[in-house]
Amino acid sequence: MVALHRSLGMTAMGAWSRKDFEESPRDLLSRDSMLKPRVYRVLGPSGPSIVKDVAGLGFFGRFLARWLLAREARALGKLDGVEGVPQVLHRLDRDALAMSLLPGRPLCKESFLRQPRRIPDRLLLLADAIHERGVFHMDLRQRQNILLDDQGGVGLVDFGAAFSPGPLGRWVFSRPLSWVDRQGVTKFLARWVPSELTPEEARGVLRAQRLRRLWIFTPHIPDGEEEGAREKLKG
Ligand SMILES: Nc1ncnc2c1ncn2[C@@H]1O[C@H](COP(=O)(O)OP(=O)(O)O)[C@@H](O)[C@H]1O
Ligand SMILES: [Mg+2]
Repeated sequence: MVALHRSLGMTAMGAWSRKDFEESPRDLLSRDSMLKPRVYRVLGPSGPSIVKDVAGLGFFGRFLARWLLAREARALGKLDGVEGVPQVLHRLDRDALAMSLLPGRPLCKESFLRQPRRIPDRLLLLADAIHERGVFHMDLRQRQNILLDDQGGVGLVDFGAAFSPGPLGRWVFSRPLSWVDRQGVTKFLARWVPSELTPEEARGVLRAQRLRRLWIFTPHIPDGEEEGAREKLKG
């Protein structure tokens, strides 16, 4: 059924041009950035969809953003048919990529607490499913990249930073890269419901916090994860 919808969407999208996209009703979902693609929810020929577009960026920004978009398209191409991640619908031109719209809203504490162990378990299963296809998300620490629907269903978006190495890279890096994605999920457990962490997860959170302090390029703003993990290990 999913495949049928997707192929119908692709057929309808096939004739969709940049002009059609620019004339369609759309909302900007992304934060304004001179370096990253703009993300729109747009009413496409097969219904509401997402379009990532770099056309409005300046010369240098567009160069980088095009590269990010191409990486994202490649990663999503490897995830064809995986439920819970966007499916590529159509390349409007080299600056814009249309993909399926996932249900749900970005992860927040209230929705997470409704099913505090089932939601991370579903996320970890979904992370395993993408890793099996050789794709590592690498930005799950951003809660805007994790969607939750009202039934507790989960989705992952924003594969712009994803890493999808070839067979040798996969063989060498698969374990540490999977670990990074898993930490992105267990961090939320440590922050919001540490009692639900397993001891192994709590130790992983502490290790991740130690490593994070060594990363000096972006600010580290801890939010109780370390205390939560310590508390779990004490109890
Ligand atoms: N395929 C999608 N389905 C539903 N919502 C999406 C989808 N892709 C992106 N979004 C929403 O748009 C927001 C911004 O998109 P994202 O790809 O994360 O770009 P960025 O982080 O660079 O602004 C996401 O946080 C999410 O809420
Ligand atoms: Mg994002």
